[in-house]
Amino acid sequence: MYDYLVVGSGLFGATFAYEAAQRGKRVKVIEKRDHIAGNIYTHEVDGIQVHQYGAHIFHTSNKEVWDYIQQFAEFNRYTNSPVANYNGEMYNLPFNMNTFNKLWGVKTPAEAVAKIEEQKKAANLSGEPKNLEEQAISLIGTDIYEKLIKGYTEKQWGKKATELPAFIIRRLPVRLTYDNNYFNDTYQGIPIGGYTQIVEKMLASDLIDVETGVDFFDNKDEYIKEYPKIIFTGMIDQFFNYELGELEYRSLHFETEEMDVDNYQGNAVVNYTDAETPYTRVIEHKHFEYGKGDKDKTIVTREYPANWSRGDEPYYPMNDAKNNELYKQYKKLAETVPSVMFGGRLGQYRYYDMHQVIHAALTTISQEFDK
Ligand code: FDA
Repeated sequence: MYDYLVVGSGLFGATFAYEAAQRGKRVKVIEKRDHIAGNIYTHEVDGIQVHQYGAHIFHTSNKEVWDYIQQFAEFNRYTNSPVANYNGEMYNLPFNMNTFNKLWGVKTPAEAVAKIEEQKKAANLSGEPKNLEEQAISLIGTDIYEKLIKGYTEKQWGKKATELPAFIIRRLPVRLTYDNNYFNDTYQGIPIGGYTQIVEKMLASDLIDVETGVDFFDNKDEYIKEYPKIIFTGMIDQFFNYELGELEYRSLHFETEEMDVDNYQGNAVVNYTDAETPYTRVIEHKHFEYGKGDKDKTIVTREYPANWSRGDEPYYPMNDAKNNELYKQYKKLAETVPSVMFGGRLGQYRYYDMHQVIHAALTTISQEFDK
């Protein structure tokens, strides 16, 4: 007899299952994909760890979470420093002195600030920004907006920047140093040997049974009858058969290619910021791990944003005001089924990064066990 059914073997489900087993509980995990680990799944090709569902870089300033994840893998010192390709012009990201120097030839922070201010003034905007375009220009001026934000953002959301709400860009990180480190977090890295091993170790206990290729919705009513408690990490609106309406998601399509070269683009992540290139990012997986992989092979993945409709993979929740309001109503509805706890990116309808998912799962564990 199991104490818990965990639906979904992503980072949330796996962390919950691991912690429950540590407390002597028996856990059944079901996963509809044919592999564990959800979107952090990696697998080896030509000695290279391939991030099947897009680039995954672990970063956090939460020491507790950083120490926690180290139990399951050793991390390298990878620092995310993506490069933007705008019609063949290459710029460092995030926007920093290297970017400003390349764009305008400025050399000092004071010169960069003066240039940004000059551009903001020339745009002649007044009042509260009415859309994403106005918001971005009011923060950083026209050059960076036109070359590095507009095309990328419009592809990402499938909408014109003038139709997107301003709040999507609350702040734009502008770094007045020659520092290409994308994240401001204290800790950052990639697990040596990939992410899947982390979930494998989390689910390795004798108290945990895992079944892949099993969809909860094929037997929902039986599961609810049979298991005293369920941790559900799939889509909360689907759980309730969309009875309050559909939450919106953004999907992605990945195209992966093996190439007979050692080094294709010289960086793990290159963002394509023009409007014409249909993909947003190209990932070259071997650059996440130093010196790994066959010398004459590389694996490259192009990431295409896509509209979502039922049956597609829901990669990103669309956390705008309308969807957040609908989610609130689903959350209320969830209180009517106290034996089910909703967790993770889809269960809580939030764009969680990995460190936030671990933190959220540990919080659920303490609510469950430290009562
Ligand atoms: P996740 O989606 O991983 O797991 C849910 C699992 O439930 C899935 O395996 C799914 O198949 C299963 N499931 C759903 N419905 C089911 C059903 N009905 N029956 C059975 N199983 C079901 N984070 C970060 O920190 N750094 C980064 O660089 C990135 N990069 C990144 C890139 C891209 C393209 C995406 C989409 C996401 C990221 N992330 C990220 C976020 C990261 O992927 C995310 O935080 C975790 O994977 C979320 O873990 P969950 O367990 O919540 O969901």
